[in-house]
Amino acid sequence: MAKMKLRVGVIGVGAIADEKHLPNWQELEAEGRVELIGVCDIVSERAHEMAAKYGARVVHTDYKKMLADDKYDIIDVCTQNRHHAPITIASLKAGAHVIVEKPMAMNSAECRAMIQAAETNKRKLMVAQFMRFEPDSEKLKEVIDAGRLGTIYSANATYLRRRGIPGWGKFHIAKESLGGPLIDIGVHVLDLAIWLMGCPKPIAASGKVYRMFGDREDLCNAEWGEPYDRKEFDVEDYASAYVRFERDITLTMEVSWAANIENERSGVSILGDKAGISTSPLGLYGYENRSLTTTRFDWLPPQSGHRMEIRHFTECVERNRPVRVKPEESLRVQQIIDAIYESSRTNAEVPIKAT
Ligand SMILES: NC(=O)c1ccc[n+]([C@@H]2O[C@H](COP(=O)([O-])OP(=O)(O)OC[C@H]3O[C@@H](n4cnc5c(N)ncnc54)[C@H](O)[C@@H]3O)[C@@H](O)[C@H]2O)c1
Repeated sequence: MAKMKLRVGVIGVGAIADEKHLPNWQELEAEGRVELIGVCDIVSERAHEMAAKYGARVVHTDYKKMLADDKYDIIDVCTQNRHHAPITIASLKAGAHVIVEKPMAMNSAECRAMIQAAETNKRKLMVAQFMRFEPDSEKLKEVIDAGRLGTIYSANATYLRRRGIPGWGKFHIAKESLGGPLIDIGVHVLDLAIWLMGCPKPIAASGKVYRMFGDREDLCNAEWGEPYDRKEFDVEDYASAYVRFERDITLTMEVSWAANIENERSGVSILGDKAGISTSPLGLYGYENRSLTTTRFDWLPPQSGHRMEIRHFTECVERNRPVRVKPEESLRVQQIIDAIYESSRTNAEVPIKAT
């Protein structure tokens, strides 16, 4: 008997869907593992353009109608942050497994409701944290899980752009996205650092967010262009934070869309009492026989994290396996982000009740 193909639908077919999701669904379709049934976007031309480009059978502008008209095994949510929770919950209720773009949602209450819907409907839910699927991250995870760092006590998560405010979409509008670089790119390095450390539970966070450039008419956004309306910009463009975890682990964090620095830099570093790691440059830093040692990983399989996350999620559905990015872990990342924004407003450390 022919193997059943998973029926896939993609909701919100903007930049990330076009660049990183739909090509990978198309590849899986060519392998005979999935069928791209429907795409949906509130911008009708966009939905039609993407359906034609990737061969979707049906086109929708209303996700509720899309979920009512056809049965889907997998729904891939690639809308702006504001729509992640309602679309994910509706899709889970309609019986689909859901992969949703980062950040999981606009706040931890929404994340909890998404997890509840996944549990009630016995469906899988995973946030598309592609960095966990990059070859460098997988190598470091292997090294850390083998105990090479000893006792882990501190980490740093950095994602600093000199000038790089997204000009497309609605990243710069708080009611659409919640915040700026903290939730947009900070979520990537924060999630990666916590996962590499073995997912310790957060207990408190403090931080400050700043809006220094994004609403200024004299902003030079360099190669990222100028299309958004300065008057709409009401999120931060820089944040720094300090997070405490169980087992006396701490994490420092710095993120920006715009800052007066020499070069863009991003990455995660983790300190243990036997060795430390960093993602950029990729390495393991230790000591032996009273000298310092550096281990480099000169070759790793070339693979795209975006491609691997979609293949992984498909395999989890096909074989009923647990997903790598557990929704409870994404909830804790969101709790930290919520706490940093609150700390910035109140100028005080905010306790986190991690579940
Ligand atoms: N993983 C990554 O590296 C990465 C990179 C960029 C963006 N993202 C995330 O992906 C999401 C989308 O970002 P983007 O850059 O593609 O933005 P985008 O604005 O290019 O695309 C979003 C699309 O969703 C559509 N949309 C909005 N509401 C909808 C609804 N109710 N139903 C159907 N369609 C709807 C919009 O019309 C638009 O076409 C964001 O959450 C963002 O954080 C992730």
